[in-house]
Amino acid sequence: IEGQLRPKPTPWWPAERERLLALAGAGTPRYVYHLPTVRERARQLAGITAVDRRYYAIKANSHPAVLRTLVEEGFGLECVSLGELRRVFEVLPDLPPSRVLFTPSFAPSDEYAAALALGVTVTLDNVEALQRWPGVFRGHNLWLRIDLGHGDGHHEKVTTGGKKSKFGLAAARVDEFVDAARALDVRITGVHAHLGSGVETRAHWRQMYDELAGFARRIGTVQVLDIGGGLPIPYGQDDEPFDLDDWAEGLAEIKAVHPAFELAIEPGRFLVAEAGVLLASTTQVVEKDGVHRVGLDTGMNALIRPALYDAWHEIKNLQRLDEAADGAFDVVGPICESSDVFGHRVRLPSTTTPGDCVLIADAGAYGFTMASTYNLRALPAEDVIE
Ligand code: LLP
Repeated sequence: IEGQLRPKPTPWWPAERERLLALAGAGTPRYVYHLPTVRERARQLAGITAVDRRYYAIKANSHPAVLRTLVEEGFGLECVSLGELRRVFEVLPDLPPSRVLFTPSFAPSDEYAAALALGVTVTLDNVEALQRWPGVFRGHNLWLRIDLGHGDGHHEKVTTGGKKSKFGLAAARVDEFVDAARALDVRITGVHAHLGSGVETRAHWRQMYDELAGFARRIGTVQVLDIGGGLPIPYGQDDEPFDLDDWAEGLAEIKAVHPAFELAIEPGRFLVAEAGVLLASTTQVVEKDGVHRVGLDTGMNALIRPALYDAWHEIKNLQRLDEAADGAFDVVGPICESSDVFGHRVRLPSTTTPGDCVLIADAGAYGFTMASTYNLRALPAEDVIE
């Protein structure tokens, strides 16, 4: 209902328009990350006292300056591959391994072995790996990822709980895992669940904490309950910003019921999505059967979210920000796929011409990290604004 929505936070990029245009002048496509916004989001989460440990899921954006910023703000880092672990220790060679989580899915044994050798906290989510590779895990502390049987998220492709999901140990097999671990002198020091990405319901995390606490009691050696990431951001004008106060209150309440454990979170999107924009140049403006299209010099290879999840991103003609958005265009890329569309009927000035700089907003999470060289298009450049 109009008037009742909490407003979207004011974006940083209109005030940085000149700087962005200058950066675009050095070549497009180009991602630009605004570090003050990353810091602001980090501090919002740091202010939540119920949370004892904060890890940043680097799959959202693994730019070195972003990693440094979040570590400076007190975050640990959550990695899902050896490549991500290498990135972390290349950028931050002095980072204590105790501040790093390794939460892979269906990884080969040598990745687990390498992570354990680095001394980071490894999360395992199946009994079979323990049975097949006893030598890799024997005598180590591990965290256990459990599928709580339910998921959530902005799209079915990013929902990670429940029967259809490949993630997590089935809750019914927890005792089996505990026995297999005990036989290998493995101590389970944390339990973990991540049910999806872009989760709006506050009850979701409380419920997870409650359920994980139940498993932790049964296991007996657990110190940390990790309720994953998944905090949403408002992409559209009508999306309400996530109510952090309400979330924090819910966590504090449930933590008071089970005070014996440390609470860990591992958000990605919330920290970096709004901090990033993708700059592109318009290539052609074309009418066909009444549809007006603006082509960009990059497409789903640079930002796959619209093609993959029907995700909505705000799109602006940065060059003509002051002109009325009196035209409606489909904004498309140069990739040979019909799904290479950033947005349908996007309001842009009707004067939009080839060579204009276009900005795609809220692209700091799962943008560059999911980019590819499909069609042998170059990867976008990356810049940061301090
Ligand atoms: N922890 C685990 C174990 C995860 O798998 C993920 C995300 C996160 C934390 C961080 O979730 P976040 O706070 O960013 O929602 N490419 C998709 C999102 C995929 C998320 C995968 N896992 C997108 O662009 O929406």
